[in-house]
Formats: sequence, structure tokens, C-alpha cells
Amino acid sequence: METIALPGKGATTLDKLDPSIDVFAEIERLRREKNVVILAHYYQDAEIQDLADFIGDSLDLSRKAAETKADVIAFCGVRFMAEVAKILSPAKTVLLPDEEAGCSLEDSCKADELRKYRDAHPDTIIVTYINSSAEVKALSDVIVTSSSAEHIVRQLPKDKPIMFAPDRHLGAYVARVTGRKMELWNGSCIVHDRFSARELSKLKTKHPKAPVVAHPECTESILAFADHVGSTRSILDFVVQRPEKEFIIATERHIIHQMEKLAPGKTFIPAPGSDGSCNCASCPYMALNTVEKLYLSLVNMAPRVEIPEALREQALKPLKRMLEMSPPAPASARAAE
Ligand code: 13P
Ligand code: SF4
Repeated sequence: METIALPGKGATTLDKLDPSIDVFAEIERLRREKNVVILAHYYQDAEIQDLADFIGDSLDLSRKAAETKADVIAFCGVRFMAEVAKILSPAKTVLLPDEEAGCSLEDSCKADELRKYRDAHPDTIIVTYINSSAEVKALSDVIVTSSSAEHIVRQLPKDKPIMFAPDRHLGAYVARVTGRKMELWNGSCIVHDRFSARELSKLKTKHPKAPVVAHPECTESILAFADHVGSTRSILDFVVQRPEKEFIIATERHIIHQMEKLAPGKTFIPAPGSDGSCNCASCPYMALNTVEKLYLSLVNMAPRVEIPEALREQALKPLKRMLEMSPPAPASARAAE
């Protein structure tokens, strides 16, 4: 991704930010003046979640980015998500408050390595998780998200080999539930990789009635404890709908803010890491975005996501396939409340 950080007229930088500025009021003013839609992922800080126009999992956010009438999309998430917004809505200005907001899964699959693989395996269908760069998407046959991977893999021709990249845990999970044999790229998420099955087992003994919900980026040993495996939005729906009063949450901890809002009175216990604490379950990339950086991005109209047109067109093909092959959006794909 090429990002442009051009300070516009009246632009300011984080170190020069006037501490007396009410950034929330300024964001309110700027979003109206500039016709901005603020999209946020569930792993963002609570204060960003609370000011977003729309909050969702990767598929919900992609759909929203594709259909918005706003002139500007301020994407509070990580780079691959903002890139998808730009690929689907090239006429819009797409802002990413911190251009360093990457993803360990994206880093684990480089385009030149995938190109070599594809050239050596011309008959293999390359199914790529949305947590990947635009270059990697452009080399893929179809993109999937955690909420659509199983549904999409079930529709693929049975007589063709499949490579699932880059998340080996999500790939292994999809292979188990669909019965489809797939070759797996050796990538993983640094956040979901760190939950400890031993510590989770101890926690479960203390809370035997609490269902465990887990994101499919977790290891198989964690998913073995799960009463529900799904995307961030699907996990949220599960805890809202179920009658139990406490739940163990094996995904990034900032989603608990949304759970507490939508299911008040229930208790959400973060799944532990190997030291028994839950501090590991925080995505350092998502944490780079702050309300101050969001405010500055609206002032400066930067950092801006730009993708060369030839690359965008190539990456659009498997993304369009994803939208066509995904399950319909549930009613719970929601505007932020
Ligand atoms: P979701 O599509 O479930 O929101 O997952 C995105 C992600 O990056 C999880 O780590
Ligand atoms: Fe990437 Fe993991 Fe962060 Fe999700 S939680 S954005 S997969 S590093």
C-alpha cells in the first residue's frame, strides 16, 4: 500500500496537538463538514468504537465500505481492512489513522513467495484470508473472512487441490468442519496464538457453566474447549443471544466493550495466556489508532490509502468473488449504538 501523509492547509501533527482541543467535538464537526463515515473494528479502543458510524467484523466492514455514500471512509482498523475499502470503493478517500497499523498474518505471507507457489501449482485454488496485502489478494482465486471461509470452501470444486493462506489455524479449522483437504500456509496471528490451553482448562474448572467462545484464528487446542467458534460479530451475537450469565472470551479483549454494551449484566472473562493473565490478548496493531490520530487524519485528510489501479483491478476479482459467495448479512451486522 502506498500511503500519502501530506499535511493539508491548517494541518497539525500529534506532537503539536493543542491539549485544550476537544477532539471528540472536532471529530463531530469534521465528519459532518467532510461527509465522512467512520468504520471501526471490534478490536479498536472503546472510545473509537463509541464514536463509529458502523462497527463490525471484516466482512461486515467490507460490505459497508462497498455501499457507503460518504465521500470519505475513516477506517479505524488495520491496513488490510482499509485497503479492502479502497479496492471496493476507489472513488472514495480512505483514511487510516495510523499508517503503521499492520497485521502479523499479513506479514506472514509475502507476495513473491505466494507467486512462486502459484507458478509451481497452476491447478491449485488459492483461498486467501482477508488478513493479507493487496498484492497477495491479487494473486489469489478467492478471498474469505472468518465469517465466510467455511461457507465459501464448501462451494469450491471437489476435484481441485486447495491452498489456504496465510492463517494455518483458520485453515485447519475450515478443513476440519468441511472435510476438505487443504494445504496450509504457515502463518498465524500473534494475538490468538498466545492463549494457553492449560490455563484455559484451569479457568474452565473455576467457571464450569461459562461457555467458551473463540475466534478461529486460535490454535486447535483452544478451539477444542469452544462452545462457539466464529468471527468477531458471530461471537458477539452468541453471547448476546445465549441465556448464560458468564462467558470465557478467546479473542482480542477490546470486543468485551461491545459485549458489555449489548449484553449488560453478563460477565465476560478473557481467556488467559501462558502466564495466566489476559494481557496478551491485545492487538498491538489495532492499538496504534487513537481518537487523536483519527482527529488528525480528518484535519489532514491523511494518511490516505492509495493502490495503483492495475493492482486494484487484480485484487478486486477475488474480493468480488468473496462478496458473491459469502452468506447473506445477518440482521445483527449493525450500526454502532
Ligand atoms: P473478524 O473478521 O472476525 O472481525 O477478524 C478479523 C481479525 O483480524 C481477527 O484477528
Ligand atoms: Fe492481525 Fe491478529 Fe491483530 Fe487480527 S488480532 S489484526 S489477525 S495481528
